[in-house]
Amino acid sequence: MLDVSNLKSSVTILAIESSCDETAAAVCRDGKILSNIIATQKIHEQYGGVVPELASRAHMENIVPVVDAALKKASCSMNEVDGIAFTQAPGLIGALLVGAQFAKSLAIALDKPLIAVHHMQAHVLANLIGDDIPQFPFLCLTVSGGHTQIVQCTSPTQMKVIGETIDDAAGEAFDKTAKLLGLPYPGGPLIDKYAQQGQAIYSFPEPRIEGLNFSFSGLKTAILYFLGNAGTANVYKQELTVTTEQRQKFIEENLADICASVQDRIVSILINKLKKAVFQTGIINVCIAGGVSANSGLRKALLKEGLHSGWKTFIPAFEYCTDNAAMIAITAYYKFLENQFSTIDVVPSAKASF
Ligand code: KG4
Ligand code: ZN
Repeated sequence: MLDVSNLKSSVTILAIESSCDETAAAVCRDGKILSNIIATQKIHEQYGGVVPELASRAHMENIVPVVDAALKKASCSMNEVDGIAFTQAPGLIGALLVGAQFAKSLAIALDKPLIAVHHMQAHVLANLIGDDIPQFPFLCLTVSGGHTQIVQCTSPTQMKVIGETIDDAAGEAFDKTAKLLGLPYPGGPLIDKYAQQGQAIYSFPEPRIEGLNFSFSGLKTAILYFLGNAGTANVYKQELTVTTEQRQKFIEENLADICASVQDRIVSILINKLKKAVFQTGIINVCIAGGVSANSGLRKALLKEGLHSGWKTFIPAFEYCTDNAAMIAITAYYKFLENQFSTIDVVPSAKASF
């Protein structure tokens, strides 16, 4: 367990997350989450992906009611807040700007410190929410719509990326597969749902990438040709031999098994790299985080590998896997304790590594 005995108590953080298509606010006191409110923007479903301009507009509409709801649920007044946190990077720049400007305005009006949080660090620290939390050092596989990283974490404010994707993220692999199957955005949760009704009877190639990095773009191409050949022997030939109707019929009749097979391959790619990272670092506290950590196949595979290899495994509660402000709040809490505040001229950034 993390030793919190020497940490300052009674620190209340109000946090805002607006990096993509969820407008979220949370209140955290002394490392405990008192509220976690999320408004999911449904408008993007009809476009098959997030439309940046629509996301910014929806954030502007949602942010006041969402922050109000978070304070109310926490039974917390504005005056009780000690610090205002927001997601600074990475994300859609217009979306980030809405949260950043709102947080800055509150910080000025309330004369409270401002805490800028890196979204991917926050995903990792979602593992510090709750009672069963990992000891340092730990490894975290962060798998989201835009990122796939293995992070080595030595303290709440010290972490480094030791492996990452060289092309698509794991979430993108799920979402792009879903699109090929004609499923709506975001397709990850739907593939997960159908996979639970099927068997992994189809085999997809595992990319040969050295070290701890990942690659998912080849898998996407393999799935494209697999479907374009209706699962026949031509699977890896880069030509489409069946008609659109035959392809559609194949998908309809085999949807659950296709989803189970794709999910199985994505999960095995992720777990194999984690095994390598544990071997290289000797760290056996292993966490997962990010939207794809909500995947039932990945959660099961991590627990199984943990039991088999003697790892201590940690998985955030579902509500802290996909984008949320509780993870921003917990990260800001630890930054607050180390006086890591931002000046009012801090700017959001669409891309930022750590
Ligand atoms: O972390 P997140 O909410 O947002 C980003 O920071 O990107 O991750 C979103 C990603 C999407 O690609 C979504 O399809 C995927 O997480 N996702 C899932 C599941 N739930 C969300 N992928 C597979 N299985 C799930 N159950
Ligand atoms: Zn995220």
